[in-house]
Amino acid sequence: MSRKLAILTSGGDCAGLNAVMRAAVLRAERFGYEVLGVENGSAGLLEEPPKVRALKSAEFDGFLMRRGGTILGTTNSRDPFRYLMADGSIKDRSEEVISAFKALGVEALIGIGGDGSFDILSRLAKQGGLNFIGIPKTIDNDLDMTDFSVGFDTAVSVATEALDRLQPTAASHDRVMILEVMGRDAGHIALNAGIAGGADVILIPEIPYKIEHVAAKIQNLKDEGRNFALVIVSEAVKSPDGEKLEVVYHGGEKRYGGIGEYLGPKIAAATGSETRVTVLGHVQRGGSPTWNDRLLASALGVRAVDLVKEGRFGRMVAWQNRQVVDVPVEEAIQRCRVVNVEGTLVHTARALGISFGDR
Ligand code: F6P
Repeated sequence: MSRKLAILTSGGDCAGLNAVMRAAVLRAERFGYEVLGVENGSAGLLEEPPKVRALKSAEFDGFLMRRGGTILGTTNSRDPFRYLMADGSIKDRSEEVISAFKALGVEALIGIGGDGSFDILSRLAKQGGLNFIGIPKTIDNDLDMTDFSVGFDTAVSVATEALDRLQPTAASHDRVMILEVMGRDAGHIALNAGIAGGADVILIPEIPYKIEHVAAKIQNLKDEGRNFALVIVSEAVKSPDGEKLEVVYHGGEKRYGGIGEYLGPKIAAATGSETRVTVLGHVQRGGSPTWNDRLLASALGVRAVDLVKEGRFGRMVAWQNRQVVDVPVEEAIQRCRVVNVEGTLVHTARALGISFGDR
């Protein structure tokens, strides 16, 4: 009987997921494993029959490794421990997922996800005695114990390019441009793209700010003869008095959104400058992965299968100090890795004269 393993993508998508699967499938085939792809995260196992299909290396050659999204589909809203049923009730369907998974006859499950997905998948693994390996992906880059998660580099590249595109139009019209970027609870995208894209002001949830300080920075630029300013703000930044800016979607799901539009008129009033707001949104998640994300995807995908071969489970593969390592998945999700406000990047930004709106 052939040896089998299963793989799924879970949580919000990002660029590089197909490249991770490609690496895992290529490596698995070398060891003689058959790889089953579970569709739509663990929710695919709740379908009758379960939505599972064989993944073959031939499928990934050519175009797929370059393509954004995930060919398996994913979800960030169908927690099997708190599953929203059609009648509106909430049901614990974890045992159904576990028995559907066991019926696949696989040795292990490789889950490509972020902290929320790893929490769910490792709880399922513990409850059902399943062998689980996690591969970190999230544009937010907020998973602990890995320097980078798949998708972050692409998101930062997209945000940097947005600043590159905003700068000439800002300069042509003497405007302040505000760019709102994603980053649920951590300001890594805003900080990295802000430095790389030459922002004048970077607002992140880790550093409290005041509109007066932001306005003073813009006024200074004007006094020096500059006719435009670029502000990048993370979606998770609150109003100066602590209000969360959120959008409520159909079904009551809340997501961050609105801080750019909140700040626009306030900065305009405080500076007397014409101000425009761009919300980058899901553009940061789609599209072709950067070479960095493809490399990371390849290294992590290979290592995850190596762990299966070695029989080492309950691990998350990670990138630390220029190499792939593996760490206990439960430790990796203990805390959200936010921006280190004493770290090199914040120091670098301040040294370049970028304002965080805090002084
Ligand atoms: O966690 C990834 C992320 O893109 C966050 O940056 C963002 O807040 C959220 O997901 C958006 O979620 P959704 O795709 O459900 O709108």
